[in-house]
Amino acid sequence: MKENNPIILALDVQDLNQGLTLLKKLEGLIQKVKIGPGLFFQEGPLLLRQLQEKGFQVFLDLKLHDIPNTVSLAVRSAQKLGIWMLSIHLSGGRKMLKEAVKAASGSLLLAGITVLTSFDDQEIKTIGILSPVVKQIEVLAGLAEETGIRAIVASPLEAACLRKTWGEKMTIITPGIRLLTESKSELSNLKQDDQARVSTPLKAIQAGANYLVIGRPILESSDPRAAVASIFEEIQLERMRK
Ligand code: C5P
Repeated sequence: MKENNPIILALDVQDLNQGLTLLKKLEGLIQKVKIGPGLFFQEGPLLLRQLQEKGFQVFLDLKLHDIPNTVSLAVRSAQKLGIWMLSIHLSGGRKMLKEAVKAASGSLLLAGITVLTSFDDQEIKTIGILSPVVKQIEVLAGLAEETGIRAIVASPLEAACLRKTWGEKMTIITPGIRLLTESKSELSNLKQDDQARVSTPLKAIQAGANYLVIGRPILESSDPRAAVASIFEEIQLERMRK
């Protein structure tokens, strides 16, 4: 099952023990793990090495956003960690992105964050952006393309539009994934938590996403192994249908 599994597990847990316990439960099902600041600040770079030694590809999701020189230094250091992917805010602007791309000249894949999936059209106005989320995403994806960033992060709701515009040259990564359940069986009433733009794994794949970042729907499941297995099965069925 490992090969071509598009699930990136967001390992948003308190400490390494909790993370390793979960990964043990998911043995053989998950190959890609996303580490955010919570676990990284707790465990440091050693954690990344440990995960890589166990065969996981690591997406370090620190969402860099700073002046070009500072970001360049950060990317250079990240490159030495041997990680698969590192996130950076596209809203950091052209100069910052160009420096980041230059600094990531090795095999490190930079994932450009468009608009966080916790934003909707109302929330985005509070930070002074008056165009709708989808418009802002178009602008930022264009900046990614122009500066040489080849992977972008957006919600499943924008994936189809991004795929149409950029074809296969962009890798599309979608967080904001939620599962249909017996009590939440309609797309309109998916559990959101703090996310604003959500959809199901199936919809994300149909929209053209390459990778799905999934945290709480797996982490909070009473049976994480069954949750991952059923998501993967749904994706495989869809791929066979195509
Ligand atoms: O628990 P849930 O599935 O909502 O987790 C989503 C993960 O994806 C979190 O770790 C969050 O930091 C990350 N993420 C996101 N929206 C983005 C980029 C990353 O939710 N635009």
